[in-house]
Parts: sequence; C-alpha cells; structure tokens
Amino acid sequence: MSQRGVFLVFEGIDVSGKSTQARRIAERHDALFTFEPGDTPLGVDLRHWLLDAGTPMEPQTEALLMLSDRSHHVASVIEPALREGRSVVSDRYYASTLAYQGYGRGVDLALLQSASDLAIGSCRPDETILLDVSLKVVNERRAHDQKDRFESADVAFHERVREGYLELAERNAWIVVDGAHGPDEVARVIDERVAHLPW
Ligand code: TYD
Repeated sequence: MSQRGVFLVFEGIDVSGKSTQARRIAERHDALFTFEPGDTPLGVDLRHWLLDAGTPMEPQTEALLMLSDRSHHVASVIEPALREGRSVVSDRYYASTLAYQGYGRGVDLALLQSASDLAIGSCRPDETILLDVSLKVVNERRAHDQKDRFESADVAFHERVREGYLELAERNAWIVVDGAHGPDEVARVIDERVAHLPW
C-alpha cells in the first residue's frame, strides 16, 4: 500500500494571491492542484449559482451549496488522490465556509462546523496556510470590472471574513503568511514553511 499523500490547503480573502501560490507549490512538489468551489463536473454548475450575483440566496443555502460542492470534491477528487499516494494542494477548503458563511454572513458557527464534518469526514488537511492581506491591499489589487456575489459584498463583510480567518488561524495553529509582499517573496516564505512536510 502506498503512503498517503500530503494534503495542503491555502486560505485567504479574495485576491490575497493564494491561487497563484497554491498552483506554484503544487507544481514544485508534483502534487495535484485543485480548488473550491467548482473543480468537479457537478461543482461547475454549483459554482455558477454560488457566484451569480443575480440569484439572491439565503446564507444557509449558500453554506449548504458550498458544503455539497466540498463533499463531492472530497469523495471524487481529493480522497482518491491522497489514497493513491499523490499529494494534493487545494485552493480553499472547509475553513472558507467558516470564514465566509460563518464569520462573514453570520451563519451559526457550531452548526456549520457539524455540517462541515459531515461533508469532509476524516479528510483533514495536514497543513493550512493563511495568506493574510489587509482590505487596503485588496482594494488596490481588485479590478473594477464585473463583480460576483462575494466581490460585490460590502467592505464590512470582507473585514469580518479576514478577522474570522485570523481567529481560526490562531486557534488551529495554521501558518500565517503576509500576502502584501511580491509573489516571489511570498513563495520563498511558503517554501520554507512547508519544507518539513513528507512530500
Ligand atoms: P475563489 O474561486 O477562490 O475566488 P477568489 O480567487 O476570488 O478568492 O472563490 C470564489 C468565492 O467563493 C470567493 O469569494 C470565496 C467564496 N467561498 C465561500 O464563500 N465559501 C466557501 O466555502 C468557498 C469554498 C468559497
């Protein structure tokens, strides 16, 4: 039986640069890069409705659709790869739902935690990296074109999401990396911090 792969997760608010960094580290360690929401055929449809700013949705509905996407993603993509011994780097995982739907939208955190456990079972990340940036940096980076459901939410929502992430990071001893630096410098710091993992 092959050894289980490493499962590394990147979290952060929109335009924190996590997607670039997650892809980079996956390539470096020959790991499978994946993301949420939407990296399965079912997930493509779920992502469409989740991001569509023209379809009003209850916060609970939003949370349950995120969890449906995740549960299918775990069962059909993440777990099979890890079991085969392939490492997996995911751009977002269960903490995104706690941060956005819990801290951001105000859905009850304890209920969300239980529902997340139902969605992911025993598939826990070996390490989580929070790429932290201030809202000032986000505003400088964000293109002012078409906005999805989350991009069009107000600044206070994004502040709550960021604070939620920082609280989760402290409680769960995640790796927190300052995302305000250039991509090469951020990549160098991340490389150092994940070198100990059994890739
Ligand atoms: P993503 O594709 O990572 O967008 P970005 O690269 O801009 O961060 O995620 C799309 C949006 O979905 C993003 O605004 C965060 C939101 N999201 C949640 O609200 N809850 C979740 O559980 C997940 C996975 C994403």
